[in-house]
Amino acid sequence: MLIIFGIVTHFKETKETIPLRSLAEKQELFIGSAVNSKNLIGGTQYEKILSTEFNMVTTENDMKFSLIHPEKNTYDFSKADQIVDFAMENNQKVRGHTLVWHNQIPDWIKYGNFSEYQMRKILKDHIQTVVSRYRGKVFAWDVVNEALNEDGSLRDSIWLRTIGEDYIALAFQWAHEADPDALLFYNDYGIEGINAKSNSLYSMLKKLKNKGVPIDGVGYQMHTRISRNINPETLKKSMDRLQNIGLQTHITELDIGIATSGSLNTRLNKQAKMYSNILKVCLDTESCTALVMWGFTDKYTWKDKEARPLIFDANYNPKKAYWSITETLKENQK
Ligand code: XIL
Repeated sequence: MLIIFGIVTHFKETKETIPLRSLAEKQELFIGSAVNSKNLIGGTQYEKILSTEFNMVTTENDMKFSLIHPEKNTYDFSKADQIVDFAMENNQKVRGHTLVWHNQIPDWIKYGNFSEYQMRKILKDHIQTVVSRYRGKVFAWDVVNEALNEDGSLRDSIWLRTIGEDYIALAFQWAHEADPDALLFYNDYGIEGINAKSNSLYSMLKKLKNKGVPIDGVGYQMHTRISRNINPETLKKSMDRLQNIGLQTHITELDIGIATSGSLNTRLNKQAKMYSNILKVCLDTESCTALVMWGFTDKYTWKDKEARPLIFDANYNPKKAYWSITETLKENQK
């Protein structure tokens, strides 16, 4: 990597660029990527790009219940620590993902047959142990992930079944007690429109806010694809109404797959356009303070390889989507 007066070139292409994080900082926006600790082995191009381009990271898997708390009396912080240490060294904010979810739950809980009282205690201990460990280091937590169905009802999960619907408010309270300075988020997918799910999310959070539950914001996952366009107007409307009840928003897991028919060039252009349209909405919405992608290189996407959903290709070359984000950040310089 060559650094000349703040201009960085670490790409094969000769095009010079200002890192996304420098452009984003001028707009008071955090721009981030999900990270898997297995890619942090020291001195790789992956790490160079991650540290140069992004000022926020999310733990893709390493803070999920089954990984960080695999047995009743065993926590394994080693992998999450690697990501947090990397972020601290590189002056990046950390999004902790995720404290309460119906997926990636360890067998000791799934098959534990615990009573309501025991499950409350287990969840409280889990949340408070994990949150206190990273107190002052994790900037924002996805406290509750994907608690709603598409029709707006509460999703069936071991937490709902044992603790009841109070588990949501309790999770926020417990997290807040463990780190009063961390921002606490509810995170979900399919809420970027005005629909049954986002309507129910809105009324649920309004009620929780009115009751004084410490919730700071909503994460919009936004795993999508070019064949399923996101309407910028409804996205803005849904963010605005949350803003009106005092909630900020983060785009937390953006990726845009291109695995449909048509020329590759056309599909990459469409992908680039969608990335910049979504970014524009966030920049236009005061309460949208972060845009995080679910990885940055197609080499490590969680989707099928043909989806190529991220902004660098599998060989770490920036794609059209990267340049469209750069342009949008430049155009919107305040
Ligand atoms: C995904 C990870 O990317 C995969 O590696 C893992 O196998 C499954 O989980 N919504 C979420 C994320 O909130 O935690 C999921 O991450 C993707 C969907």
